Parts: sequence; structure tokens; C-alpha cells
Amino acid sequence: MNDRTNLPARPADPDDIGYNESNNPSFDSILTARLSRRNFMLGSAGTGAMAVFGGVSLSALAGCTSDDDDAAAEKLLGFKAVSHSVADTVIVPEGYSWNVLCALGDPLAAGVPAYGNVGNDTDYENRFGDHHDGMEYFGLSVTGTPDPTSNTRALIGLNHEATTNESKSSYFLHADGGSNTLPRPTAELDKEMAIHGISVFEVAKSGSTFAYVQDSAFNFRIHQNTDVEIHGPARGHAMVQTKYSPAGTNTRGTLNNCGTGRTPWGTLLTGEENWAGYFTRNSGDNAARGNDKSVTSLNRNGRSQGAASRHGWEGDTTNAGRDDRYQRWDISLLGATAHDDYRNELNTTGYIVEIDPYNKNLKARKRTALGRFAHESAAFSVPTVGEPLAIYQGDDARNEYIYKWVSAENWSAADATAADRLAVGDKYLNDGKLYVAKFNADGSGEWMELTYNVNGLNNANITYPFADQADVCVNSRLAADSLGATKMDRPEWSAVNPANGEIYFTLTNNTTRTNLTADPANPRVYSDVKNTASVTTGNVNGHIIRMKEGAGNSAATTFTWDVYLFGAESNAGAMINLSSLTADQDFSSPDGLWFSPYTGICWIQTDDGYYTDVTNCMMLAALPGQVGDGESITVAGTNVVTHRGALPTADTLKRFLVGSVACEITGICETPDGKAIFVNIQHPGETTANADILDPTKYTSHWPGNDGYGAGGNMARPRSATIVITKNDGGQIGY
Ligand code: FEO
Ligand code: CA
Ligand code: CA
Repeated sequence: MNDRTNLPARPADPDDIGYNESNNPSFDSILTARLSRRNFMLGSAGTGAMAVFGGVSLSALAGCTSDDDDAAAEKLLGFKAVSHSVADTVIVPEGYSWNVLCALGDPLAAGVPAYGNVGNDTDYENRFGDHHDGMEYFGLSVTGTPDPTSNTRALIGLNHEATTNESKSSYFLHADGGSNTLPRPTAELDKEMAIHGISVFEVAKSGSTFAYVQDSAFNFRIHQNTDVEIHGPARGHAMVQTKYSPAGTNTRGTLNNCGTGRTPWGTLLTGEENWAGYFTRNSGDNAARGNDKSVTSLNRNGRSQGAASRHGWEGDTTNAGRDDRYQRWDISLLGATAHDDYRNELNTTGYIVEIDPYNKNLKARKRTALGRFAHESAAFSVPTVGEPLAIYQGDDARNEYIYKWVSAENWSAADATAADRLAVGDKYLNDGKLYVAKFNADGSGEWMELTYNVNGLNNANITYPFADQADVCVNSRLAADSLGATKMDRPEWSAVNPANGEIYFTLTNNTTRTNLTADPANPRVYSDVKNTASVTTGNVNGHIIRMKEGAGNSAATTFTWDVYLFGAESNAGAMINLSSLTADQDFSSPDGLWFSPYTGICWIQTDDGYYTDVTNCMMLAALPGQVGDGESITVAGTNVVTHRGALPTADTLKRFLVGSVACEITGICETPDGKAIFVNIQHPGETTANADILDPTKYTSHWPGNDGYGAGGNMARPRSATIVITKNDGGQIGY
């Protein structure tokens, strides 16, 4: 049992943080103007034509069952729902199978030994990293060229978000659990810096499933010492100049990579999420900086003076003479100029980063135009020739915002197959406009422009004096604050429904939401009891909001919205379980979110700590309708009127997978024929106490060793892993 009440107190979940002290109204001015549903319903009239996508009729998306469907038994979501489970394994529906594709530490180059998994492994720069998160599939032809249609050979770009740590040390990586006393041993720091970042690796069909190719020439890692480039408005700016790159054009690594995106031109986008916590800043640094505006920026992004780092990577002179690779994690003003220290290093982190998976010789590019915050995924609008591309992005911290990027250039179909993919990225991801969302009470909303000298974003701004567009991009949160953007319940992944272009965001939970701050888009506040003892209040179980663009499609500055689903325990009261979820559908803390372009299924993944006394984290399959298909309701307790989507049925929402103990389910990609999906099981056993590292019987999980993967068997140290799911009859996933 995953009974956290028996474990020592743990530090705050590093995924659950918030620094937004702005006084933005949470609808207090509009709560008095609750408008009727009739206004809200405007524009959501019937959809005429049904698109055909990837050869699959998207009529299925509306949950339709068509009489002329030639396989009645092959109904989408025809599988039997997976029940709640606290077992230390992965459970998929009857008729499906899974196998581990790759796990923490597996060798990613020829000659690297198999992972021993007792803390003695080396050469982590040539192994899979930890905490597998977002990932994308990039098809590969038999001759090794990009082929988006390939079902048998591909490259997968995979995020390694973080590592399992209770205190400073990533304890499962070190034989004795590692040191939590500063300074930490050099070898521990190097190992941990190597397991954060990205893996790109080749997979090939092997029998009915897939295996990764250890010695593929395509494989590569990006870790914390890999040189990467800064692009967009901040490139070369004084704010990103450091001792490492006085020109402000380069930095090292990509950090805390959470969600992903796949560009229409075949590159990987990866979002840097909880980056701030890795850096330390001296007490007294405010005065050292002369209390200039950089202090406002650092405080707003979670690094007030005196902040300690998550792992102590900043080291001291005992760490190879305090080599530069450790110095960079100390962002205090220490030298004579910004070229002598790392006072600006935090400004080189917090972006969407573009990587060409097909060419490991090209450096990754940080796309600063898309804004700087705790990025999750980057979901593209449905590309339409002659129209701009939009990218929808969430900022995951409590009370943060939802953003949209709109390219200046219109989409050209020829760019989908261009040879210089990162040049195409330069075209669409450097010039354009960034917007932040404001949700109105009547079910409408506005995209507010974050452009220098627009909307008061100039040197006279009282929130923060903006100098130029680079300053607006680097300080997206401060710009959004000053425009009165809507504070959301932790925006996680975004996804776009390929059938109708509507935009979905998971809002995972918010323990600081109160009756006073509840608003129509974040309307619930209640108490949840776990293990009959632990009480949490706020929006405990999260919800999924969706948006429909107004006139202008991807470039629209208005939208309509409703709440697609409210997470809840199925036996919670009707005014908590607002989507009337049954035991086959109930979930808490939605996080990963992705629409299959092949089957149209909306896949929902959870990263939960509240319902885990009843069930481990999970993945559900959904067939949503559209914005406005439900009704307006008043939420008991907060008395807020919100707009709820049509209630799900047993045919439109069903649990597909439950993971191992103390994991989260995150990241999903699929072969173009829809017959294999790849899913990540992140941080199984993270509730294990650091002090128990030498007693494997006390690990809360032994997965996947206990399911026969890798060394260690039933006493294995738990490992994050990617699994492949196939249907036993060889059919498409989700039927
Ligand atoms: Fe990495 Fe907010 O999840
Ligand atoms: Ca996430
Ligand atoms: Ca998460």
C-alpha cells in the first residue's frame, strides 16, 4: 500500500509551487456580471462537415456510433475499463499488452554496460536519464531519412524531467543514498547533472512490439553540460550574458523538461518547468544588486535572496576547485561584471527549446520569443496553409497563466519537409506575438498581447519597468501580471483537438484556491480527506478547461470556454463531483494530455497525491464533444457560476491504464497507424524514505524490476521507464 502517513514528513512537492504575489483580480469585478448561458451558447452551433484525419472518420470524436461502422465490436473506447489499483505494476485493459522499452540508466551507446541499478553505474552521459516525461515520435525511413508515416522505425525524443529526491540527494542513484550535507561529493553532482535533460533514441519494431536500438548512430543525450544556443529576442541581450557566454548567445543544457511538442516541420519542442529550484542565491544579494529591477524578476520567478538549491550542484572548492560547471548554479552577484559570474544564469533557463531529433550535430535552440515561465507542453493549432501557427502553453505553478504564441509568418506546406528544420524553427518561432489569457464570467475570453510598448508594457509600467521585447519575454509573468491575466489552478499540458481545433488545458489542482479567489474558470474549493487523516483544501482534484478560438482562428484575440471535466472521487458529493464521474472514470490531478491524430482519442494522464490511497496514477481515454455542449451551473460553496461541458458517459470516458506505486503517468506518443502507443511511468517509489535506501524491503515500489525488467527483481530499486502498449489482436489502440 502506498500509505504516506507511515512515512517521514517530506518537503513540498517541487512540482507544486507558486510565486505569484500579484494582485490580479480573480473575477471580483465580473462576478457581479454573471451572464446567462444563452449568450455563452452563441457560436457553438452545429458542426457541419466531419473531417477525416489519418484515414479515420472523426465522427467518432463526438462519441457517435455509426450504423455503417463495419466493425461494431471495434467501437472506440470499446475496451473494458481498468479498475482502481494500488498494485505495484502496470495494468492495461483485457486484450492489451505492455512491455518496457527503456528505463533510467539503460545504455544509449555501443559498449556501455547494462544498468546495474545498485548505485554503482557510471557514464550517465551515455545512458537514459531519470523521470521520463513528455516524448514525441519522429518516423524514420529504412534509409534513415525523416518519414512521418513510418510504423516500424523511428526516433523518440524523451524528456528527463528530474530525479527522485527527498532532501538534496537523488538517493536511488547512489549506492548509499548519497550525501545531503553541503558540499556534496563531486561524483554525485556529475551523475545527477547527467541524468537531467533529453534523450533522443532510435526504436525499431521487433515482433509485435518495439525495442530501442542501443548502438544507433542517431542516439544522443542533452545533459547539463551540453552547449545550447539562445535564440529570439533575448539572444545577445545583456540579461543573458554570463561568464560562460559573455556574448549572451549560449548556455548549457536544458533543465527540468516536462511536456513536449512536435512541430509541423518535424522537430522536438521541450518545455523547461521547475528550473528555478536548482539555483542558489546568497542572502544579501538584493543589496549587492543595488535592489535593481533584477531583484523583482528573481523574486517573481522563485529565487528570492537566500534561496537554497534543490541538489547543491553549486558545490564549493572541494568540487574540482569549484569548476565552472558547478559555479553556474550560484546566481549571486559575485564578480565585477556579469561576465565574471552567473548573476544572469537564471535568465538563460525557463524556455521552450527546439531540438532537431534527426541531426545530433545541431545545437538545441532556446526559443525565447515564446516566453519564460514553468513550461509544460507546446500544442500547435491545426496547421492551415496561409494562416499563422499558434502554440498553446501552460505555466505550471499555483495561480499562474495560460499563454499563446502566434507566428508572424503564415504556414507554408513546403516547410513540413524542409531539410534545414531548425531554420524553419527560426522562421516561425522567433517573430510573432505572445498573448496571455483572461477568462470572463460569461464564457468568453481574451488573449491579451504581451508586446513591448503595447498594453502599457514599457519603462513606465508600475509592476516592472520593461526595457524592450527581450525584457517582456524574459519576464513574461510580470508582463502578464500587469495586464490582469486570470490566475489558474496550475496549468499543465495543452492539447488541440484535431477534429475542430479546440484547445484543452489540464489544471492539475490548487491548494491555495479559496472561496474569495474562486472564479468561473477555477470555480471549486472543497476539502478532501485522504487515509481518514490528511485533509487538503482548495481545488484538490483539478479540472480540464477547453477553449474555442473566435474570429481569426489561430490569430484570434477572443475565445469562448467551458470546463470539459472536473476531476473528483466518484463517491464525492455531487457538488464536488461536478462531472458525475463513475468509478470507471474518476481521476484526480490531470496533467499529461494529448489527442491522437490517428484515432482522435483524448488521452488524459494523472500526477496525483490525493486519491493515491485508493488508486495509483492512471491514464484515461476520452471522446470529448465541444465547447458549449453542456450548461451553466452554480458551484456550491463558492457560489460561482461556471460553464460545464456535457457530462461524460461510459462510452466517452474510460480508464485505460493504472501505473505502479507512487508513479505519475506522463508523456505519450504513437505510431502513425495507431497500433502502438508509448507511455511513461515516472518516479515509481518516490515515497520511499531516503533513510531506507539500504533496506530494499522498505522501498514503496520495485517496478519495473518486479515485473522482470532489468536487474534486481522483486528487490530492485524503482526506475522511471517508457512502456509500449499494443493490442493483442494487432489492432488500433483504444478500441
Ligand atoms: Fe512536470 Fe507540472 O508537471
Ligand atoms: Ca506535467
Ligand atoms: Ca507533473
